[in-house]
Amino acid sequence: MMEKIEQYIKKLITCLQIAKIYTSSHPKFSEGLNAAYESLAEVLREKQEFTVGIVGYELAYEREIFFELSQKIKSAIGVLKKKGIERITFTRGIDKEELLKFIEYLAIPETEEVREPQKYITAIGIRNITVGKIKSSADADKELKEKKEENIESYYADSVKTVETSIEDVLGGRSIDAVDFRFNVIGVMENLMKKHNEFLKLAAVKRYDATTFWHLLNVSILSMYFSWKLGFSKEDFLDIATAAIFHDVGKIFISRKIIQKPDKLSEEEFDIVRSHSALGAQILLKYSQALGIIVPLVAFEHHLGFNGKGYPKLSFEQKPHIASLIVSICDVYDALTQRRSYKNEYSPALIYEVMMKEKNKLFHPELLDSFFRILGVWPYGTLVLLNDDSVAVVREQNTYDIFNPIVEVVFPAEKKSHINLSDNRDVTIKRFLNPTSEGKQYLGFV
Ligand SMILES: [Fe+2]
Ligand SMILES: [Fe+2]
Repeated sequence: MMEKIEQYIKKLITCLQIAKIYTSSHPKFSEGLNAAYESLAEVLREKQEFTVGIVGYELAYEREIFFELSQKIKSAIGVLKKKGIERITFTRGIDKEELLKFIEYLAIPETEEVREPQKYITAIGIRNITVGKIKSSADADKELKEKKEENIESYYADSVKTVETSIEDVLGGRSIDAVDFRFNVIGVMENLMKKHNEFLKLAAVKRYDATTFWHLLNVSILSMYFSWKLGFSKEDFLDIATAAIFHDVGKIFISRKIIQKPDKLSEEEFDIVRSHSALGAQILLKYSQALGIIVPLVAFEHHLGFNGKGYPKLSFEQKPHIASLIVSICDVYDALTQRRSYKNEYSPALIYEVMMKEKNKLFHPELLDSFFRILGVWPYGTLVLLNDDSVAVVREQNTYDIFNPIVEVVFPAEKKSHINLSDNRDVTIKRFLNPTSEGKQYLGFV
């Protein structure tokens, strides 16, 4: 095994050296790449994955150091160290394209902006190579502590800004830096996976901030969380999240150009609004290279409905893509919760009812059920009034009993406790408290 890995490393380094001289379209490069890839495949036939690391200035596999090899590849080791890479893991399933991208990444001169290497290589679509540092446990602890102290709220606000700029760029027909964009989405995704409760809580509060960009970020976070819980791969829910961010680009375009009136729309104007999905797809099609084809597809289909009876009206039958079905559920859900901040309040229970009426019509039946099983009828962080007039916050879902979550009583002080409403049938939710109006004084408890 040692020998085979050594062979592979040698070929990888040769290829890297070629990449520094020729472009990746040069035949010399493809020759080198083929050789490296074949020898990598040979190792991965025997092992599911393997990691090589840098210890000091030596290259190592498991506990063995390649002393001789390390001497020869000093400059390559230097390149890795400068990029902040101390270990590389290769996993079975890697294709030549991924190896090519990785080599290209390593060949970028060090003078160019250094980013977090793992995030970067994920952003450019490499799935079967991971890189990182070899850290002592003291370092790891320190890092964990720093991460904890990161302010999630300012992170959320930054993300809204990223969403805003990218959409402005798309609307203005400017090119967008796709790698940078995916980089940001990955950041949100990682934070969401680590601290999804904090994120969901924030989404529960920010949902009342009825601006378009918050809506887009909320739909994206919901879609991401939902598809993560459904078991999609990272790569897939990254695509779904991106599609969610852009799903209403057509609407923003139209509302700026045409409709900006507060009163009722005429039937004609409604038709124009309905054209936002096709228009959005048209705008986004130009970006399918950078953002992926799922993005215009979801924009096109997000109002089509599971039964295809929504809009745009099509002269042929088209089953919406699962990404569109997911985004459509999250979109309607978020739009209905936002309605609360206007005149008629929509309680979570009513939203559930309204959405259930569209089961098999607008919404895919199993997906809709899963959605409420995962999110609950009363989502995490919802402020509620109980039947004994105490105020509580939803803290956990009962997947087997979506109507009765676990709540924490926050007021009055003497009643403070956690209650599982599924086990305590005497205590029930009387109604929902809007955290921006009557529930405002309890916002600190959420
Ligand atoms: Fe829409
Ligand atoms: Fe929407």
